[in-house]
Amino acid sequence: MEYITRTEDETIALGMRIGSVLTRGSVLALEGGLAAGKTTFTKGIAQSLGITEPVTSPTYTIISEYNGIYPLYHIDCYRLEGEEDAIAIGMDELIYGDGICVIEWSERIHSLLPEYTIRIVMKVLAEGERNIKITGPELEALL
Ligand SMILES: Nc1ncnc2c1ncn2[C@@H]1O[C@H](COP(=O)(O)OP(=O)(O)OP(=O)(O)O)[C@@H](O)[C@H]1O
Ligand SMILES: [Mg+2]
Repeated sequence: MEYITRTEDETIALGMRIGSVLTRGSVLALEGGLAAGKTTFTKGIAQSLGITEPVTSPTYTIISEYNGIYPLYHIDCYRLEGEEDAIAIGMDELIYGDGICVIEWSERIHSLLPEYTIRIVMKVLAEGERNIKITGPELEALL
């Protein structure tokens, strides 16, 4: 599926829509360069899980945990060299665990991603405009 959003709020709204069809164990891989809108999209997912705490970029903390309908693990791999770094901090256990994992810069840990991963590729089209491609097993039928 492919979408175009014209504002930050539209990206949050799309995140909410995707968030509403996620289940325990869902893994979302967010790709797209700096300021593509990955953290913004994650704010929408958090809202749909009933999380009221503000969602901030986990660039320095690497993993942020929020308690919602399901636990949400917001992960940022920007500062990781690769899969070994991720395993060293136990990220594989979260990815294959019971919460929902939303992973920014997921390209860095590609081989750790399960085959059921929902892939979200974000591109900057213009100031304020983003192209968002979403692919995932059986997702089409749910949206
Ligand atoms: N349509 C849009 N959707 C999302 N963000 C938008 C849009 N238009 C403009 N923006 C702006 O782009 C920025 C996106 O920032 P955000 O932190 O979500 O990006 P990111 O992909 O997480 O970046 P990083 O790689 O640094 O983590 C925000 O400043 C937001 O206001
Ligand atoms: Mg971010």
